[in-house]
Amino acid sequence: MADFDPDWGFATLGVRAFEPARGVGEHSAAIHPTSSFVFGSAAEAAAVFAGEAPGYVYSRFTNPTVQAFERRLAAMEGGEACVATASGMAAILSLCLATLKTGDEVIASTSLFGATVNLFNNVLSRFGIVTRWVSLTDLDAWRQALTPKTRLLFVETPSNPLSEVADIAALAELAHAHGAKLAVDNCFLTPVLQQPLKLGADYVIHSATKYLDGQGRCLGGAVVGDAQSVGKDVFSFLRTAGPSMSPFNAWVFLKGLETLALRMQAHGDNAMQLARWLEQQPQVQRVYYSGLESHPGHALAKRQQRGFGGVLSFELRGGREQAWKLIDATRLLSITANLGDTRTTITHPATTTHGRVSAEARAKAGIGENLVRIAVGLEDVKDLIADLRQALTA
Ligand SMILES: Cc1ncc(COP(=O)(O)O)c(C=O)c1O
Repeated sequence: MADFDPDWGFATLGVRAFEPARGVGEHSAAIHPTSSFVFGSAAEAAAVFAGEAPGYVYSRFTNPTVQAFERRLAAMEGGEACVATASGMAAILSLCLATLKTGDEVIASTSLFGATVNLFNNVLSRFGIVTRWVSLTDLDAWRQALTPKTRLLFVETPSNPLSEVADIAALAELAHAHGAKLAVDNCFLTPVLQQPLKLGADYVIHSATKYLDGQGRCLGGAVVGDAQSVGKDVFSFLRTAGPSMSPFNAWVFLKGLETLALRMQAHGDNAMQLARWLEQQPQVQRVYYSGLESHPGHALAKRQQRGFGGVLSFELRGGREQAWKLIDATRLLSITANLGDTRTTITHPATTTHGRVSAEARAKAGIGENLVRIAVGLEDVKDLIADLRQALTA
């Protein structure tokens, strides 16, 4: 059985790439829940510890199940290396601490997940890493924010929750012309619908918690990129600092990758139908979904994405009261901030995902009190529409 063929499509990569070695001929991948690995001799232990011989040492940094997930995800993203982490936030932290130092500067889009904003503003800032904030879609603003100290540009595209679209190729060119790197959080689309590395980005970040799992069970994350800065630098950070993925979670994500291509298609089909329906409702002021022709990023999204994903948001006529009333009146949708689940979720970004971000930063990012986000699941879309219809008129 070949480990990996670069001509395989996404469905085959997700199912077959880098299958873990079979212990007893099992067809489904085994889990290796062990802290450490044994050696035949002291000399063998010394060689494996020193990286001079292949083998597993200790599950903080080498585990067969975790490694199978890392290799498969790297193959799907088109990266040379992948490091799996305990959560999506641990992936972002690991990338930054492995590649940045005191005095370095980051430029980040104002349209980032709330915890990511806080990580840059409240954690990395304490170590002398300065972040400058710019609009995701304003290339001039990125250009103007560059200084000789800029080392990293950081974006999510499409963004959470407004589905704004960044021009990955243009940002990569800008970063490289100034000796900086570009990191793209690819959580919303996954490699099935977008491969940032192929557009010039240097790093891809994942919250595996979302679509890679696909059923809302486990926390995990990943950094994908080149053999040096991810395969060596981020890996060394993980080995020393320990924000590692558990073998059980890696197994869940590995199985999740097997159905990822099918699921992303289905999430996107449902989201598109729901977005079109929402656009026609009189109570809805505006719908944000990069698949809609009315979305300012639609043309760019069509160019750099293979689909539009499962997350949309919309503004209701009114304010927080109307938004909360709608959310509370839904019966089928789950009121929770997670996304990428089979179950459709509904949330009020201003008081949940972006609740710890300052009101000023929220306003800058365009996240109003009347905004509602839906992460469309895999139920029949007619049932989602029926639920939202009764909730809108409740
Ligand atoms: C776009 C994005 N990036 C990163 C994260 C953080 O991931 P995790 O919750 O796995 O730490 C999230 C979580 O919601 C997210 O939506």
